[in-house]
Amino acid sequence: GKVGVLFGGRSAEREVSIMSGTGVLNALKSRGIDAHGFDPAERSLAELAAEKFDRVFIALHGRYGEDGSLQGALEQLGIPYTGSGVMASSVAMDKIFTKKIWLYHQLTTPKYAVLNADSNLAQVTQELGLPLIVKPPHEGSTIGITKVTADEALPAAYQLAAQFDEEVLAEEFIQGRELTVAVLGRGAGARALPVIEIVAPEGNYDYQNKYFTDDTKYLCPAPLDENLTVEIQRMCEDAYRAVNCEGWARIDVLLRAHDNKPFLIEINTSPGMTGHSLVPMAAKAAGMSYEDVCVEILKTARL
Ligand code: DAL
Ligand code: MG
Repeated sequence: GKVGVLFGGRSAEREVSIMSGTGVLNALKSRGIDAHGFDPAERSLAELAAEKFDRVFIALHGRYGEDGSLQGALEQLGIPYTGSGVMASSVAMDKIFTKKIWLYHQLTTPKYAVLNADSNLAQVTQELGLPLIVKPPHEGSTIGITKVTADEALPAAYQLAAQFDEEVLAEEFIQGRELTVAVLGRGAGARALPVIEIVAPEGNYDYQNKYFTDDTKYLCPAPLDENLTVEIQRMCEDAYRAVNCEGWARIDVLLRAHDNKPFLIEINTSPGMTGHSLVPMAAKAAGMSYEDVCVEILKTARL
């Protein structure tokens, strides 16, 4: 039947989504699937309904695409869609809420504080130490994030993140290696793909180094001993199930240098599928091409 690939959208990650969606659309077409692009920022939900798609592949990132709101609209329209449902999508879009769920399940995530306009910032640095990470809880692709290394830098970091969100997340800085793990499936069938290690220039895996430079190195499978690899994969499957994710997602992890302890950072329920993105890289290490993984994800579309 007719497949819609939803990409573009109205979030700060629009540009990234256009790269993801173009890749997915071409991959599905190359496999003979009758796929059509659809940008919800340019066209209405009424037009989406009129397209009579049998199912849609969501390649939108961030607000109004990854956050459960579009998933809710698709439920209303009766169109099966890829990835997590309404609840898991909205929980995962909120990094603070996600941490609360993980902590309830005794899964390890960095210590944190929630900042708003009335917060005592001096107290926050005392609690979490320096450096610390300040981020808007509903953004992606490193947008609005600052690593704060001195007390005097915290107000500006807060102000930057507060441009995107009313409440801001401050997290203990985990000195260590940056890992990411794709998980496919749902419930008891959720399975982690090979672990990826990201080695960014000066440890700075920011928007530029994510999508536009070739300076970031990716090691997949990550050079970790077998037991640690399996521990991290199981932890990510648990983290995925804790939030009720479905279809696919990618979980970002930091591996603390001094004791090799893994910390969960966040879940992306509609991860990047650009030429530089990580799910396709992990899939490749598992023997799946970019086209294969797009087709596999599409197969999981449901209401
Ligand atoms: N938020 C970006 C798209 C990612 O997680 O890949
Ligand atoms: Mg993210």
